[in-house]
Amino acid sequence: MEKERTFVMIKPDAVQRGLIGKIISRFERKGIKLVAMKFVSVSKELAEKHYGIHKGKPFFEPTVKYITSSPVVAMILEGNNAIEMVRGMMGKTDPQKAAMGTMRGDFGQFIGRNIVHGSDGPEAAEFEINLWFKPEEISNYTRIDEEWLTE
Ligand code: RTP
Ligand code: MG
Repeated sequence: MEKERTFVMIKPDAVQRGLIGKIISRFERKGIKLVAMKFVSVSKELAEKHYGIHKGKPFFEPTVKYITSSPVVAMILEGNNAIEMVRGMMGKTDPQKAAMGTMRGDFGQFIGRNIVHGSDGPEAAEFEINLWFKPEEISNYTRIDEEWLTE
């Protein structure tokens, strides 16, 4: 399996509802490594770049408003097959359709307030990591449990 990095954001509703710790804890117990993290009040410009792929769609403006409405936690997570694994842990975009046991399934109710974001593929991950973080904000280190996470 390939070591990957993915961009994850704890969205404003989850910050407001006191779910930061619970969400990070789920990634930690899965064995995914945090390599960068910061608390960000997102500008309209950054939000529009981040969701640029959705420009023109009916939910674009509301989503930009949502993401800029209150601070978010921005993170880079690293692990084997991390992009797909994180998407699986988050669940389907609409929390009503997301399986129980996923973050959106367990914590959310509405598509426009869906708790968390994760890059949807390698190209998005690269774009989003470069958009949100400078290289010096990323830590390269080894966690003591890494050798126990693979065969
Ligand atoms: P995300 O990018 O935030 O991780 O979510 P996603 O890949 O699961 O879904 P995506 O299609 O990329 O949609 C981006 C965000 O836009 C909002 N949305 N609202 N009202 C709607 O129909 C609708 N569709 C999407 C959600 O906040 C979604 O996470
Ligand atoms: Mg997306």
